[in-house]
Amino acid sequence: MKIQASDTSAADWSGDYLGIGFFEDSTDIETSLAQLNPHLEEVLQDLIRETEFKGKSGEQPWTRIAGQSPICKVMLIGLGAKETFTLESLRQAAASFAKTTQKQKAASAGLQLPLWNDEATASTQAMAEGIELALHQDHRFKSDPEVHQSGEYPQEISLLGVANQAEAIETAQQICAGVILTRELVAAPANVVTPSVLAETAAQIATEHGLTLEVLEREECEAQGMGAFLGVSLASDLPPKFIHLTYKPNGTPRRKLAIVGKGVTFDSGGLNLKVSGSGIETMKMDMAGSGATLGAAKAIGQLKPDVEVHFIVAAAENMISGHALHPGDILTASNGKTIEINNTDAEGRLTLADALVFAEKQEVDAIVDLATLTGACIVALGNDIAGMWTPEDSLAEELTQASEQAGEKFWRMPLEEKYFEGLKSPIADMKNTGPRPGGSITAALFLKQYVEKTPWAHLDVAGPVWTEKENGYLNVGATGFAVRTLVNWVMG
Ligand code: BES
Ligand code: MN
Ligand code: ZN
Repeated sequence: MKIQASDTSAADWSGDYLGIGFFEDSTDIETSLAQLNPHLEEVLQDLIRETEFKGKSGEQPWTRIAGQSPICKVMLIGLGAKETFTLESLRQAAASFAKTTQKQKAASAGLQLPLWNDEATASTQAMAEGIELALHQDHRFKSDPEVHQSGEYPQEISLLGVANQAEAIETAQQICAGVILTRELVAAPANVVTPSVLAETAAQIATEHGLTLEVLEREECEAQGMGAFLGVSLASDLPPKFIHLTYKPNGTPRRKLAIVGKGVTFDSGGLNLKVSGSGIETMKMDMAGSGATLGAAKAIGQLKPDVEVHFIVAAAENMISGHALHPGDILTASNGKTIEINNTDAEGRLTLADALVFAEKQEVDAIVDLATLTGACIVALGNDIAGMWTPEDSLAEELTQASEQAGEKFWRMPLEEKYFEGLKSPIADMKNTGPRPGGSITAALFLKQYVEKTPWAHLDVAGPVWTEKENGYLNVGATGFAVRTLVNWVMG
């Protein structure tokens, strides 16, 4: 599928399927209609009357155009009130139009939407993102070739009335290639995406986009004293992989950053085995933090900012066997801190502890970690919003801006030091699990013990990395959440 920007207007465009956006405001609808050719204006007047179209967001009536016409079908796209119009509205509008043209197997489509804030580049990028992400379908695990068919449509979409925006479209496509990689890593089952496959994926990104890769094997992790990470991997038949992918710009970097992702390719809970009803069958997605980390690496490798970025994943599988970590075991992390394991299902923080210590050794200006860390975060914020913890107001501000621009939702949560009492151990430096209340906060406080002085933020993405319902540019399954926020953060 090809996306192109074109200075042709809706009045002059010819092709299969035309989409035109309208604000919820009757004078806007009238003036927009008056700019169309008379034949089209008449058809649309009828459609507006018959469907009582008001321009509300979500309203999308369409009709076939009879007789000799340069256009076969036309759709009205409600954009809601002008005052609430954002880049995300553009993404959503473009996404639903693209999906309809796909379902109806249109060969060519033309889309005319107003610019947000008169910003042609940002608006074009947002529309292209909505289209790319909406049309992505994942049929890798279906044997029936017929299900692939609608994926061939539309063959091209023209963004009308936006000339000279090829670069914005290319940027969107580079970012979306990262998001789609993330979706495919997260959606793939644990017998497909193993720690080795995450390492191989990192190697592919390194080769394709000129990053450097270092993978530490078990012995090297032992030599670095990564006892917390290795403890998680003990019962798995699959070898752990500690992945360190680095993007370096030509010339002196403006900033150095680290992105650390939880890469538990399957979380059975360990000997504190997840019970039935706990969603154990969904735990292939417990590497979504690392999925977003690698997706961001793929995007950044193409966008080539003047920022050095370290992408770090301690990849392992949390399983059960005679080699398993016992509840009560004491592990020593690579910063020398000892951990009493009172619950083997709180494994993500163990892998992240050593990854954070490693990240700080890279002497970066800031570290952001992403993890499907706690069910408690989903209880607190629901499925659409990720939690953010950081002691650093300026980093919170940077990430909030990046996420708002991306249309991805985060909510800052408290790093309430007093709750660390819940992690006190009589025998070791700390336990790995606190009491049930405030479970996502004690998880964040645990991680904080492994960052000494570098500005750091923790993002608990357990909710939004997966969706059971199709919504806008999100299809059922892995959403690719956080890649676009990370990219904006690095580029900004
Ligand atoms: N991977 C889970 C968290 C999770 C749960 C992610 C549901 C997505 C959906 C994590 O490793 C875990 O098991 N956390 C425990 C922590 C508890 C033992 C303190 C949890 O949230 O129940
Ligand atoms: Mn767990
Ligand atoms: Zn987990």
